Amino acid sequence: MSKQRLEGKVAIVTGAASGIGEDAVKTFVENGAFVVIADINHELGHHLATSIGLDKVSYHHCDVRDEKQVEQTVSFTLEKYGTLDIMFSNAGIPGPMSSILEFDLNKFDNTMAVNIRGVAATIKHAARVMVDRKIRGSIICTASVAATVAGGGGHDYVTSKHGLIGLVRSTCSELGAYGIRVNSISPYLVATPLVCRTLGKEQGEIEANGNDIGNLKGVTLKGKHIAEAALFLASDESAYISGHNLVVDGGFSVINTSFPSIIKK
Ligand SMILES: NC(=O)c1ccc[n+]([C@@H]2O[C@H](COP(=O)([O-])OP(=O)(O)OC[C@H]3O[C@@H](n4cnc5c(N)ncnc54)[C@H](O)[C@@H]3O)[C@@H](O)[C@H]2O)c1
Repeated sequence: MSKQRLEGKVAIVTGAASGIGEDAVKTFVENGAFVVIADINHELGHHLATSIGLDKVSYHHCDVRDEKQVEQTVSFTLEKYGTLDIMFSNAGIPGPMSSILEFDLNKFDNTMAVNIRGVAATIKHAARVMVDRKIRGSIICTASVAATVAGGGGHDYVTSKHGLIGLVRSTCSELGAYGIRVNSISPYLVATPLVCRTLGKEQGEIEANGNDIGNLKGVTLKGKHIAEAALFLASDESAYISGHNLVVDGGFSVINTSFPSIIKK
């Protein structure tokens, strides 16, 4: 059998109990990794761990808004598996879709606490261990097409994901000296539980809408596609890639569709 792409590596995936994170856990394990599911959804997290196999996957409760819980999750991982090679900082929330005229700054703080502060905490504690133990690790953060274009979410979400790109670039500039890579992935619409809940629609309907307005035809974007991108950034195949935002959107965010429609007219 050929060598698996993450053979023997140890990863933490935050927001791993459902959606993109769940797909990443399965993909990492299929490729030989040991994975800690770090999430606030105890029931789903436990269920996922037991369904894959407790010899390879563990669940650890972790609310990324609480730095202590992030630190404890990293300590748990070291105790259980002896090292930490990959931090996939994926937990995120959509935040409200409200007008700036009615903006709720407490809700804004909460979105920032998960999508930015929480990610900063995961980078901090993963990097501390990697630097201390001279591990040339890979840190990957889930951004979004909303990190580069507006309109793909509320003001909270768009702001937080734009900020996340800054966090990735800034930390990559410090951690490069230790051989640690920091990158982000920016998915287009994936019909995960987060999106279904936020839009109040079924998976099939969201996928149909996404395909309608998407640029690349004939493919429906799934969590598995994002997990494959994370696998690439986690593996040695991306050994010299750092500070990169890997956009997985079929070209959506580089096209302004109003131009072709004006030209046709
Ligand atoms: N689905 C999409 O279309 C899409 C597109 C672009 C980016 N993203 C990003 O992908 C990431 C994953 O989203 P998803 O669509 O898989 O959503 P999801 O709701 O299916 O999964 C998110 C997971 O994060 C967990 N979580 C929420 N708050 C947390 C916290 N404070 N601490 C730890 N875990 C927490 C939830 O329990 C859940 O298991 C998010 O960062 C999201 O912004 C999603």
